[in-house]
Amino acid sequence: MDLGAPEDSNRSANRSIHEVSDPARRTVLRLGTGAAAAALYGPWLAGCASGQAPARMGFAGVRPSTADTVVVPPGYVAQVIAPWGEPVGVPGAMPAWQPDASNTADEQALQLGMHHDGIHYFPLDGARRGLLVMNHEYVDEGLLFPDGMAGWSAAKVAKAQAAHGISVVEAERGPEGWRLVRPSRFARRFTAATPFAVGGPAAGHALMRTAADPTGTRILGTLNNCAAGMTPWGTYLSGEENWAGYFDGGATVTEDQRRWGLREKGWSRWAEHDARFDAARHPNEFHRFGWIVEVDPMDPTGTPVKRTALGRAAHEGAWVAVTKDGRAVVYSGEDAAFEYIYKFVSRDRIAPGGGGRTPAQANAALLDHGTLYVARFDADGTGRWLPLVHGQGPLTPANGFADAGEVVIKARQAADLLGATKMDRPEWLAIQPGGTTVYCTLTNNSARGTPGRPGVDAANPRANNTMGHIIRWTEDGDFGATRFRWDHLLLAGDPANARAEARGTIRGDAFGSPDGLAFDPRGLLWIQTDASSSTIGQGEYARLGHNQMLACDVASGEVRRFLTGPAGCEITGAAFTPDATTMFVNVQHPGETPRGRSDPADPMRFSRWPDGAQATRPRSATLAIRRRDGGPVGT
Ligand code: FEO
Ligand code: CA
Ligand code: CA
Repeated sequence: MDLGAPEDSNRSANRSIHEVSDPARRTVLRLGTGAAAAALYGPWLAGCASGQAPARMGFAGVRPSTADTVVVPPGYVAQVIAPWGEPVGVPGAMPAWQPDASNTADEQALQLGMHHDGIHYFPLDGARRGLLVMNHEYVDEGLLFPDGMAGWSAAKVAKAQAAHGISVVEAERGPEGWRLVRPSRFARRFTAATPFAVGGPAAGHALMRTAADPTGTRILGTLNNCAAGMTPWGTYLSGEENWAGYFDGGATVTEDQRRWGLREKGWSRWAEHDARFDAARHPNEFHRFGWIVEVDPMDPTGTPVKRTALGRAAHEGAWVAVTKDGRAVVYSGEDAAFEYIYKFVSRDRIAPGGGGRTPAQANAALLDHGTLYVARFDADGTGRWLPLVHGQGPLTPANGFADAGEVVIKARQAADLLGATKMDRPEWLAIQPGGTTVYCTLTNNSARGTPGRPGVDAANPRANNTMGHIIRWTEDGDFGATRFRWDHLLLAGDPANARAEARGTIRGDAFGSPDGLAFDPRGLLWIQTDASSSTIGQGEYARLGHNQMLACDVASGEVRRFLTGPAGCEITGAAFTPDATTMFVNVQHPGETPRGRSDPADPMRFSRWPDGAQATRPRSATLAIRRRDGGPVGT
């Protein structure tokens, strides 16, 4: 267990039933209704914090670390909650985690998944009790089974699928810190087998129909869920990122499939026992992933939806702003080398709910109608949002776009034809409270400038970009604008590096490979790193230690390191209570080896986090980080 953890998460499995009061539920359902929404979700609402001075940093920075633990500044406590394998708390169905990883697929489908990523906090009772909704990006089969991938079977595929997806858990803060509330009537898992509805122009499209779903409107599962956004109407948006690797393409991979990353053999081995991941036999199944999915955590029986109007991509995640006239704007990036940044502007205004309908119900179709745009960053510091509208410009049947559905299914090819800017792997976006400025991490791209690949441009100014950068733009007066001005917050790097281009422009503590990015309610920008496990501590990253989390005062540009993670991990996911007194952060894949998976012969060769002496294998987990004096985190 890490620094100062006041509670063993396993103890909370034995808690008695927690009553959920209706007044608390009504607090949440008021979301999106003017003042209440502004108070709880200021960062997502235009203009609510105009003129607010950015928060200053009030913590002592920590040094780079290679210790197998979580380090936070003096005066802070980082408590471990919700590790992989704990039951989420479905009433009457709470299988205990088996430390030898012998839980079945059915049990795993009732437990927290593996490899935690994006996360959000949905208040049930302000900053004291709420729902934590989080993504589980992928799995490490060497840890998921007692004997790794030996005897690969349909049962193992089913368990791997059950460890993917999204978890909803209830958590509350007591005198000893945060703990899971189990059972909870909100507790839920979405896995790679959960039925999803389909909304938007690709719903029912011929390219979405399969033998198992001839209507093209019901898809089993969500995959490789990376980052997450929260809507002003109280729902959770999750990005399907590296889904292409779950499919085998066989000997007949088409040009379209190759553009989307399909290869003869994927890396999941699911197709050996689940034919829908054999893209040679079921080519349209491949079109049914790569979407932003929307979940209403307050409705434990609701059907989640894939929102195709937001475009198909290797979606990192989705982040919502609001135009002056009350329409939703959803920003998303595609984390792949030389891919794009998108935004969707809804046709309709956000509805407040009422009359027996919750805000989520009142906006159930909001993200199905609107305009999708892709970004072009010009050398003069201005930029354009280019519309992906069927029939406009090159997006015609002659160029392979039969209708609006085919434009969103082939959003990459559409963006290619429009001349959008090929970016250095867009990861998270963050919308600054007040004004119309949006930030985006571009994690790295060592392929830029290599033979046959794009060279540098103004927005992606470094060849062999090993360190990544953070770009930002200010929309022209409104989030719905089609023009913007842009610059770089910083180019990441280490000033001690021999290669000039790997030194960067950071004012303050050095880091590389920015990934997670979030403004807290007070306007402090949080940056999380995901240097790959083959890179941590190596070469140009030799002095940067483990992956970490830093804060940035965007007014001064100062960057200060706040947290360092255990060995082999990525730090990701940043969520806050409305008063910013607790920050939830995820530690993903502790103990991963330089080859990108655990060592089957010795799973704890690099890390015993978070269970320490009792560990049987490292486990991804959530941190609840607080100031010991109860004040807002970071300030
Ligand atoms: Fe899942 Fe791009 O990180
Ligand atoms: Ca990420
Ligand atoms: Ca990453």
